[in-house]
Amino acid sequence: MIRIRRARRADAAAIGRVHVETWQSSYAGLLPDSMLAGMSDVRQTAWWSRSLGDAVEARGIFVADDEDAGVVGFGSCGAVRDMPEGLDGTETRAGEVYTLYVEPDFQNLGLGRRLLDALFRQLRADGCDVAVLWMLATNPARFFYEGMGGGFAGQRTDTMAGQDVEEIAFVWRNLAMPLMRRKLAPED
Ligand SMILES: CC(C)(COP(=O)(O)OP(=O)(O)OC[C@H]1O[C@@H](n2cnc3c(N)ncnc32)[C@H](O)[C@@H]1OP(=O)(O)O)[C@@H](O)C(=O)NCCC(=O)NCCS
Repeated sequence: MIRIRRARRADAAAIGRVHVETWQSSYAGLLPDSMLAGMSDVRQTAWWSRSLGDAVEARGIFVADDEDAGVVGFGSCGAVRDMPEGLDGTETRAGEVYTLYVEPDFQNLGLGRRLLDALFRQLRADGCDVAVLWMLATNPARFFYEGMGGGFAGQRTDTMAGQDVEEIAFVWRNLAMPLMRRKLAPED
């Protein structure tokens, strides 16, 4: 059984490990090799430990916890950091999904959807009516977000390890809408 729950400080090492593993497997060829090779469990663990030690940040961090394997995925959210140009910040209270990662062996089991659902519930509880998410423009995960009802909201150029990387933003304008979208039957 795999449970989605809020992360605890003691999860920092497990989240750090999944973070490095998923970045190295998902972003090979998409991000600079030197940057991926230089990632370390120890540094990521320290980063997550600091975040989980902050009560406000920790509220928005969730894990997928397998009864045998432990933490196999995680996601985090909070106040929007960079509003895409396609959104008017004066009309909406926007939150942001900062991270969403599921270990390769546990992908396509519905955990990404369940984690995203938990993050959206948290953002709603924090008073947000809209959520945005930035991702690499070349990441095939964009089809996952489109399937979850996300719409294109803008783009930006970021710099990672000295290289420009293109990013796109997705937006969900109604966080109350369930992510469990029914598949359309041929006659629909
Ligand atoms: C993207 C990711 C979070 C999705 O999580 P997941 O647990 O594999 O996805 P789920 O099993 O919840 O999939 C839900 C639905 O999306 C579909 N889906 C999942 N990944 C998809 C993809 N890359 N392209 C198209 N559809 C996808 C599934 O088939 C499923 O469809 P269904 O509802 O018709 O059955 C996960 O694959 C991942 O961590 N990828 C690598 C890291 C990454 O790129 N993260 C995003 C950073 S912004």
